[in-house]
Amino acid sequence: MGVVIAVASGKGGTGKTSVCAGLSTALADMGRTVLCIDCDIGLRNLDISLGLPDNGGLSFLDVCQGGYPLSQAARHPDYPKLAFLTAPMNCPAEKIPMESFQDMLRRARTEFDYILLDAPAGLGAGFRLAASAADRCLIVTGAGPAAVRDAARVGEVLELMGKTDIRLIVNRVDRDIMRAVRLTVDDVMDTAGLPLAGIVMEDMQVPLAAAFGRPLLRYARRCPAAACCRRIAKRIQGFHIPVALG
Ligand SMILES: Nc1ncnc2c1ncn2[C@@H]1O[C@H](COP(=O)(O)OP(=O)(O)OP(=O)(O)O)[C@@H](O)[C@H]1O
Ligand SMILES: [Mg+2]
Repeated sequence: MGVVIAVASGKGGTGKTSVCAGLSTALADMGRTVLCIDCDIGLRNLDISLGLPDNGGLSFLDVCQGGYPLSQAARHPDYPKLAFLTAPMNCPAEKIPMESFQDMLRRARTEFDYILLDAPAGLGAGFRLAASAADRCLIVTGAGPAAVRDAARVGEVLELMGKTDIRLIVNRVDRDIMRAVRLTVDDVMDTAGLPLAGIVMEDMQVPLAAAFGRPLLRYARRCPAAACCRRIAKRIQGFHIPVALG
């Protein structure tokens, strides 16, 4: 039975979409079947981080409404095991019936090992749609105080929603900056009050891959951020991989 993982943050721009794409492609590289769903309704861009052609493709609402089967979800040209559903552009998140979204995910669980939901920033309807359907939640934060405070708040909200498997990903980790401000990843975890799923290093290959329309793990497979995504993807599958800076 597949596992549904929501990737959320609170603060905008922490790297949810980049991390979601990195983890999805890493899992697919490791032989897992993956469905990646962009839940950032109206502001979709997971297709860019996945390096998919800009032709929209099927949206999750198309499948929820019963017009199309899951089997018609776009397949990634570089990753045959990775399917993708984009976010609808013209339907407010509040109008998407939770029941039909959950129904679609029930079907997806039977066809995919992992279903990753790229949630929008904040605590609005799109976040709630993704979070309420998730078996596990990953909160992506930067190391800065504003992002960490928001991550802590999202963690509390998820707990109130009854979520028990909530983990933190500290993205854009820069060793020099952390050293200069005397901050450790442990400090970030303590402030957020959440266990760590992993860290992703600050890495210029992340925006470069997006700019060239390529998935990071194909564009720069040996770069630090790609290595970090592979390590987290292994942890997601239950392997014990120690956290390493770089
Ligand atoms: N590890 C990283 N190193 C360097 N740049 C990064 C890293 N992760 C993300 N970025 C850059 O940060 C910016 C925001 O990333 P992204 O769009 O993934 O964030 P997001 O949390 O999904 O944003 P939003 O809240 O708008 O959905 C992008 O320009 C991306 O290339
Ligand atoms: Mg995003």
